Formats: sequence, C-alpha cells, structure tokens
Amino acid sequence: MSDSVTLDTAAKKTLLRKIPHGVFICGVAEGDQVNGFTASWVTQGSFEPPLVVMAVLADSTSNGIIQRTGRFSLNVLADHQKDLAAVFFKPQQAVGGRFDAAPFSLGPLGLPILNDALGGLECTLVGQVAHGDHTVFVAEVKTAVLHRDGSPLELAGTGWQYGG
Ligand SMILES: Cc1cc2nc3c(=O)[nH]c(=O)nc-3n(C[C@H](O)[C@H](O)[C@H](O)COP(=O)(O)O)c2cc1C
Repeated sequence: MSDSVTLDTAAKKTLLRKIPHGVFICGVAEGDQVNGFTASWVTQGSFEPPLVVMAVLADSTSNGIIQRTGRFSLNVLADHQKDLAAVFFKPQQAVGGRFDAAPFSLGPLGLPILNDALGGLECTLVGQVAHGDHTVFVAEVKTAVLHRDGSPLELAGTGWQYGG
C-alpha cells in the first residue's frame, strides 16, 4: 500500500473536533501521593471484560504514575461541575495539590474517588500504545461506585477544546 498521500490538516482538525467527548477526572496514586487531571479522551472498549480506553499526555506527571502503578480511577462529573474540572487541568504547586479543592476517598484499589462526582471507576492496565504525544492506555474496570445518578459533564457545553 502506498503512503504517498497528503493530509488536509484543516479538514482533519475540523473533523476530529466533531468526536463527542465527556469530561472526567482521572485519579492516580503512588505511595502516599495522589494526583489527578482532567481527561476527555476516554471511551469504553469492551463489554466483557469491561474495558476503558484513555489517552494520556506522554510527558505528564500522571502518565508516569500510571506506568509505574498500572492503575487509575475515572471520576464521572455532573453537568454543573465545570469549575471542578478546571481545577484539575491548571498547574499546581505540588503533586496532589488539586485535591485540596475536592474532597475524596480512596477506593478498594487505593485510587482517589471524588466525593462530589456522580461516581468513580477503578481500573487496572491491560495494554498501551505509546506512539505520538499521548499514550493510549487500555484498562479493565475492577470497581465502580455510584454516588448518585445524573447528567454527566460533556466537553461540548464547556466551550473548551481538546482535540483536532
Ligand atoms: C478540556 C480538557 C481536556 C483534557 N483532556 C486530556 C486528556 O484526555 N488526556 C490528557 O493527558 N490530558 C488532557 N488534558 C490536559 C490535562 O488535564 C493537563 O495536561 C494536566 O495538567 C496534566 O496533569 P499532570 O501533569 O499533573 O498529570 C485536558 C485538558 C483540558 C483543558
């Protein structure tokens, strides 16, 4: 197969930004340190076993922690929690600092679950693709806690862009 094609980068950007995304807080923990960041590149990847797929900045603090611990949590925010999502992508003084703004407890796998989120999943890594500026992690959902049901925060309504 020939690779002699050219990519229309403007079309690529417009089309990729049409992919609908949620807005989640990914939690990680290593020793007594917890960290978390806002993640929108998240989707389900299998019913059985239940898998999730998430792309994480290759040079981020949390990527290193996921690599070393083989696990992460996914907190599902409610539609009115945009301000909380903003806390988790802003630079912080120290690892764990973002959680000063958000009470949490540790799940059975030791991962942070935000008390005010709709709920959280704890996941263990089953595979990854490291190619480009994000690492694509595939992980199995091992625990799930539902605090309350409700409408989730979606990227489209926030005015933020992450994609293209
Ligand atoms: C709307 C939005 C969506 C984001 N989605 C992701 C994502 O899916 N994956 C990712 O690695 N970073 C994503 N980010 C960026 C991280 O939240 C940000 O880089 C964070 O500071 C990384 O934290 P860390 O270095 O402490 O791990 C997103 C940022 C915004 C504003």
